Amino acid sequence: MGRIQDRLAIVTGAAHGLGAAIAQRLAEEGARLALLDLDGAALERVAADLRARGRPVLAQAADVTEEDAVQAAFARIEAECGAPDILVNNVGGARNRRIWEMPAEDWDFTLRLNLRPTFLCTRAVLPGMMERQAGSIVCLSSGARNGTPWSAADSGAAAYSAAKAGIAGFVRAVALEVSHRNVRINAVAPGPIETERTRAAFARMEQTVELSPNRLVPMRRVGQPREVADAVLYLASDEASYVTGSILDVAGGR
Ligand SMILES: NC(=O)c1ccc[n+]([C@@H]2O[C@H](COP(=O)([O-])OP(=O)(O)OC[C@H]3O[C@@H](n4cnc5c(N)ncnc54)[C@H](O)[C@@H]3O)[C@@H](O)[C@H]2O)c1
Repeated sequence: MGRIQDRLAIVTGAAHGLGAAIAQRLAEEGARLALLDLDGAALERVAADLRARGRPVLAQAADVTEEDAVQAAFARIEAECGAPDILVNNVGGARNRRIWEMPAEDWDFTLRLNLRPTFLCTRAVLPGMMERQAGSIVCLSSGARNGTPWSAADSGAAAYSAAKAGIAGFVRAVALEVSHRNVRINAVAPGPIETERTRAAFARMEQTVELSPNRLVPMRRVGQPREVADAVLYLASDEASYVTGSILDVAGGR
């Protein structure tokens, strides 16, 4: 038996990076999966890999910043897979620019990409979870919620920091609203994690930024996606049954 055997877990942004690693880790512990991503072709490759290992997976291409798309995707998941036990709000990202040069549309893009899917997907699952008095929601905040020196020196990340601080506030506030119905909501806040997307940027910063991640993180290395996925698994599972409203840093001591 896995640690979340046969639970239905929805993971957004599961086609690449941390979302794909989280989907894989939850599947290893017995979850049934419903995966969402804008990149339908890459999502299908992730889903096919998990199915080949024997796990049931529904893969749905969707832009989770769009209200109608989220409603349609979650209705399909309920109809085909049943009620979700776990939601991982993983979609996020940034258009980084120095704040004094940032176009308003890049600011809006970054806040929308991080906050809107977290709101829309959480709203979609909460009525059912509160009715059943069971459910765990895990959101992706970031060490950037407090600002990161390497991002500041490299390209600026104030919009991203604001968005990820927003995720932390959302988690704290929603926990207050839903805890009495035994629904838990927490966040994982990763430090710099090596993915296809970040690898080149971190390598560049080693050459160009004095306070690079490898020099500034107390453990003197960047993290791996599986180390984030392990934290998400813990919060999603019954092992965290008395943990809600928490922001768990997975950041090598930062
Ligand atoms: N990698 C890091 O160092 C790091 C550190 C801290 C926090 N995070 C957070 O972790 C989460 C995942 O980060 P990542 O590095 O794996 O990102 P990533 O860019 O590698 O992957 C994001 C995934 O989301 C999908 N996506 C983007 N916009 C979408 C939309 N509108 N609708 C549906 N899917 C969409 C992408 O196609 C992609 O598969 C994000 O919330 C990010 O802010 C990452």
